[in-house]
Amino acid sequence: MQRALQARLVLMSIQSEQTNIEHFDREAERYDEQFNLSVEIDRHRLPFLQQQCRQPLSGRLALDIGCGTGNLAYAMASEGFAQVSIGFDISFGMTRVARRKTAHLSSCQFAVGSVVAIPFADSTFDVAVGSAFLHHIVRAVDALREIYRVLKPGGVATFNEPCAEGYRFVEFLLRSIQDAGVPDPGIESYLDYLVYMRVHEGDIEALEAYPLPDKHIFSFAALRAMAAEAGFKDISFGLSMGFSPNHWQRYMAELLTAIPGQPESLKHGLSLAKRLDEIIGKTAFDAFPIHTQLFLYKD
Ligand SMILES: C[S@@+](CC[C@H](N)C(=O)[O-])C[C@H]1O[C@@H](n2cnc3c(N)ncnc32)[C@H](O)[C@@H]1O
Repeated sequence: MQRALQARLVLMSIQSEQTNIEHFDREAERYDEQFNLSVEIDRHRLPFLQQQCRQPLSGRLALDIGCGTGNLAYAMASEGFAQVSIGFDISFGMTRVARRKTAHLSSCQFAVGSVVAIPFADSTFDVAVGSAFLHHIVRAVDALREIYRVLKPGGVATFNEPCAEGYRFVEFLLRSIQDAGVPDPGIESYLDYLVYMRVHEGDIEALEAYPLPDKHIFSFAALRAMAAEAGFKDISFGLSMGFSPNHWQRYMAELLTAIPGQPESLKHGLSLAKRLDEIIGKTAFDAFPIHTQLFLYKD
């Protein structure tokens, strides 16, 4: 790769990391409440993931990548999936919340840094877990290389990420609501974001230019290709917990309650989403998962 281009990519990655740090530091204290997250949910998530994993999703040392407020790292340690679980995140604010929550649990520790340069030796972890971190990384393949490096041979990594196939359906839903004549600036700006991500996927400069920490909505093919480039030969996709067949209704409720002072559009959007759930919710969820769960096995 030419030197100038390489230097530009490094600079872009640093800028993107800064955007993430500022965003998640700002959101940290209200993050769990805002997204309805808790260690309880992740206690249930682990057996759900284990069912789909071809080998034990457990071991002596576990890494929770982009751990946020630490729920998954906490559950790994407290449910016996790991003797020691390490949550790792670029946002000091997020890890501060995580540390506070797990202060009583010495088997759960946290470190701050970027997944494109994980500060642990090769072949350290038996298992790596995570949730929704990869789409924040401009050069996502660099993160996957690092995950491959720090996993022990025979180890497994699993995490969920937004996927393009499901989001096309979200785009369709939102356009249907617009077509129904509901004026909604929230929906418009969200649609702008979805279209931007779709049109510019793979164009690192354009993705970096977008002023949000979210940088990708991956297609299955893109995830598979990146994981293979990072060294994983054995890759599979599964279901991510948290997006139930009733997802559409809740999704619309969240989206619409985010827009103050529009009770009519809220009512209309909710009834439309309820109807969509009734008619196609389950089918749509099976056919178009919004997040997919990756399982990456290291030889
Ligand atoms: C959408 S949040 C998910 C948090 C948590 N995993 C959860 O599911 O609640 C994404 C997390 O990835 C972290 N993150 C973003 N870029 C990162 C990077 N380069 N290295 C490590 N963590 C990063 C953010 O700070 C944030 O906590």
